[in-house]
Amino acid sequence: MNVYDSARMAEVLAPLGYTATETADDADMVILNTCHIREKAAEKVYSELGRLRQIKEKRAGGDHGRGMILAVAGCVAQAEGAEMLRRAPFLDMVFGPQTYHRLPEMVARASRGAGAVLDTDFPADAKFDALPKTELAEVDGEGRSAFLTVQEGCDKFCTFCVVPYTRGAEYSRPVDEVLAEARRLAAAGVREITLLGQNVNCYHGQRDGREIGLGELIALAAEIDGVERLRYTTSYPADMDAALIAAHRDVPALMPFLHLPVQSGSDRVLAAMNRRHDAEEYRRLVERLRAARPDLALSSDFIVGFPGETDADFRATMDLVAEVGFAQAYSFKYSPRPGTPAAAMDIQVEDTVKAARLAELQDLLNAQQIAFNDACVGTVMPVLLDRRGRYNGQLVGRSPYMQAVHVDAPEACFGEIVDLRIDAAHANSLSGGLVAGDARLRA
Ligand code: 5AD
Ligand code: SF4
Repeated sequence: MNVYDSARMAEVLAPLGYTATETADDADMVILNTCHIREKAAEKVYSELGRLRQIKEKRAGGDHGRGMILAVAGCVAQAEGAEMLRRAPFLDMVFGPQTYHRLPEMVARASRGAGAVLDTDFPADAKFDALPKTELAEVDGEGRSAFLTVQEGCDKFCTFCVVPYTRGAEYSRPVDEVLAEARRLAAAGVREITLLGQNVNCYHGQRDGREIGLGELIALAAEIDGVERLRYTTSYPADMDAALIAAHRDVPALMPFLHLPVQSGSDRVLAAMNRRHDAEEYRRLVERLRAARPDLALSSDFIVGFPGETDADFRATMDLVAEVGFAQAYSFKYSPRPGTPAAAMDIQVEDTVKAARLAELQDLLNAQQIAFNDACVGTVMPVLLDRRGRYNGQLVGRSPYMQAVHVDAPEACFGEIVDLRIDAAHANSLSGGLVAGDARLRA
């Protein structure tokens, strides 16, 4: 989401003459795009600001003769805006994730030296209307893979999570707008589209006065010429409906890899998290998905040390992981976020306990990831080769399961989906070769 938002800011700023630089020392403006989801992410902002302040002061007084606009965007800005200006009065702009379309105006105000700009308003109107419609997708790599936002915000209010407070209410883009953008991307050479949303599978877009869910949207997007691969992220288990599960069976372009955060394997903890699914429902859901698409692999998010989590609760999480098996996962220590219900719960788990549980969980998840990657060796996989590698003649791509795959291949393969024989597995990537008989081997 933040990568995507940064690209949006860059797009909005381009007409003003701004382009990206590699280092902050060269920059006329630095925007820290921030994440508030865990405490660590928020803390990093202040330490980074200390470093940037020095560069800003050097530039103001130094040979450049030009100042630097220093700004904080994103969810830390949204949550701590006014406090942030008090703690870091050298900031020029602090603005939340719903305000990026007003950036040119903010920059103008900041450059006039009229004092710091603070903008953390949530617009009452549909937020996408304020943005140039053709610029909502972010193109990744070298233009073959793109994120397309279909939904923003969240109304689930998991008790640990700040997103509903910082990102605002759930909103789905109209179907035809999404499809028009997908067509434009395909025409520009994009082969793989990831439908993006904070809670993407609660998508309910309008079309001809009717509501359409994500399963149907995927089927429509798959019909677009040039769209060869589709993905979606991030999903909420309780919102996986029959139509979406059916799409995994019926739409070959939908990749057999699903990020489906479960958070915990304990029913007690899931209820305290306000997750609206229990462990058994998650297991059954995975069974239905695998019945629809037998080669499906799963990824997930986990939180350990949620307030009140006992050893038995944690064991239930370990059991669920052992049973389901994940190709990849993210896991975190619970981090109390100001203003969320869980932060006020009086049974916080000690950090040493959290750390021990996290280490144990990560050992298991890492072992599963390695086993999954190892099992790919010897198979042939279609890989979208959309990046150049570090060495001459090396290309890098993504497998259906989002694994990075390195290959020595002729230039003719660049931008193509190429069948590769997987030769070796590493912790975070694979390497492979063209399949014997591939015409491009002779190129
Ligand atoms: N503490 C720890 N992890 C959190 N996440 C969200 N909020 C918190 C929190 N307060 C994790 C969840 C979510 C992922 C994006 O971040 O696992 O799925
Ligand atoms: Fe946060 Fe996801 Fe829960 Fe929404 S569904 S509150 S974004 S964890």
